[in-house]
Amino acid sequence: MRLYQGDEVRDVSVYSDEGFALLAELWLKVTCERKVMYEPSWLGRPIIQYPDDIVMMQEVIWKVRPDLIVETGVAHGGSTVFYASMLELLGRGRVLSIDVEIREHNRVAIERHPLSKRIDLLECSSVDPIAVEHAAAAARLATTTLVVLDSKHSCDHVLQELSLYGPLVTPGSYIVAMDGAQARVWDIPRGKAEWRDDNPLRAIDTFLERNHADWEVDAQYTRMAVTSNPRGYLRRKDR
Ligand SMILES: C[S@@+](CC[C@H](N)C(=O)[O-])C[C@H]1O[C@@H](n2cnc3c(N)ncnc32)[C@H](O)[C@@H]1O
Repeated sequence: MRLYQGDEVRDVSVYSDEGFALLAELWLKVTCERKVMYEPSWLGRPIIQYPDDIVMMQEVIWKVRPDLIVETGVAHGGSTVFYASMLELLGRGRVLSIDVEIREHNRVAIERHPLSKRIDLLECSSVDPIAVEHAAAAARLATTTLVVLDSKHSCDHVLQELSLYGPLVTPGSYIVAMDGAQARVWDIPRGKAEWRDDNPLRAIDTFLERNHADWEVDAQYTRMAVTSNPRGYLRRKDR
């Protein structure tokens, strides 16, 4: 593979670590342009995720074995049903899913789904104190809480969510801040210039700077390389 950077031209082997990282980034840009992450469904509901990220979330949930998953960003309910299906396999637990707008047809489909018995939906902004209090009340009743942030992907919003929902996560469990890859796809044809600086990755870095005593990035969940969530799997350290 030949790289042109300014006046510099150099060859990089696609079999080297650098070549692998570059190809993964290229694949992310091309698939994001084609909205490939809108293709999958989970048990009948559309899920807006890359397949690799779905497998990684399965690993996190199976390892942590939460009895509460708080999710921000429901959309069509595919991720909600996915988390509920994992809890069903674990034999316990509930998903609390919060979205500022749950469209009627999506709500009906989620409520009619066989796994709806494990799902609570809340229509509210994730940073509204009502949503946070709802989640905190559920966390008080739970043994192990895991949080997934997949709502509005601006830096300010994700930083607020990390600060509000981070304290609900039990030590050893995770808060997963999704779509940091927005920072890497601002320059694709359907990208937006503002994504370069306004993205979840910045929120993650600021949150970690402020809270490094309690939180760390767990890089094993981004090892598949093509991920929407670089640096997004944040583990609350054990005390
Ligand atoms: C990327 S989609 C969620 C995808 C879903 N988690 C999945 O994997 O299929 C983002 C969702 O966030 C919601 N959203 C946007 N701003 C929000 C906010 N302030 N609070 C809660 N949800 C919000 C949108 O309505 C949209 O449904």
